[in-house]
Amino acid sequence: MKYSQFIIGFLIALARFLYKEDKDIVTTQYVHKSERVPYAFDGYKIVHVSDFHNARFGRLSKKLLEKIKEADGDVILITGDIIDRRTPNLKRSVNFINQVVKILPTYYVTGNHEAHYKRFARLEQIIDQSEMKNISEASARLYIGNEYIHLIGMEDLWFYGEEEDHLVTGRFESKLKERLEDKDDRLTLLMSHRPELINLYSKYPIDLVFSGHSHGGQIRLPFVKGLYAPHQGVLPKYTEGIHTKNGTSVVISRGLGNSRFPFRVFNHPEIVIVELKRDVHG
Ligand SMILES: [Fe+2]
Repeated sequence: MKYSQFIIGFLIALARFLYKEDKDIVTTQYVHKSERVPYAFDGYKIVHVSDFHNARFGRLSKKLLEKIKEADGDVILITGDIIDRRTPNLKRSVNFINQVVKILPTYYVTGNHEAHYKRFARLEQIIDQSEMKNISEASARLYIGNEYIHLIGMEDLWFYGEEEDHLVTGRFESKLKERLEDKDDRLTLLMSHRPELINLYSKYPIDLVFSGHSHGGQIRLPFVKGLYAPHQGVLPKYTEGIHTKNGTSVVISRGLGNSRFPFRVFNHPEIVIVELKRDVHG
């Protein structure tokens, strides 16, 4: 075999590998057992979707929508970066918004990409006109019959100011505090894009936080769980799974699309399912 043929063969194999790493969606399931789960919510399934970044998953996002349907949940929570600010494809995001809401009631909060997306006002308007409930600046309750749990929404940190502004986190925190004021002591879920704020979240009576942002660290190698995440840097701590601190568990989705770094390695796009289980001994 000629050297050039070998190189071409290698490049084709590499492209195929990277394509599969980027497009084959995996579903990860967790169970959250607690005595704080109301009777009516025993077995309630939350489908957590994050960081779509207007990525392509088959024609009209068909492969992604199928995966979400297969999850057979009760509610869908979308935790930001539904668009990519550097390579936006508004049409693809709009199609996803209008299709996903047909599956289950869907709640959404913004990510940092929305904060710096030029046509964010337009995107927000489209979401408002859809069935998707944008709770970036609100809190909601999820009901089954007369029983309910709290669902608090937070917009991304960047909506509170620029990165170098040292008051940003303070503003974010006082808004979170304000939103937690109307809640009682029932099970409380928070939707907030950034997992690295775990220390802040865990200061408050929040049971579960749904987050994304870190894209699984983009490249995952044995022993090195994730190589890089925005706002955490190299060898980030919070890239996937569930991290618990002070009674607050932060669920991190590895997300679906990519941003600046154009591919994923050993880090498939992920949909997370969290099933609530009532546990009297919890
Ligand atoms: Fe993202």
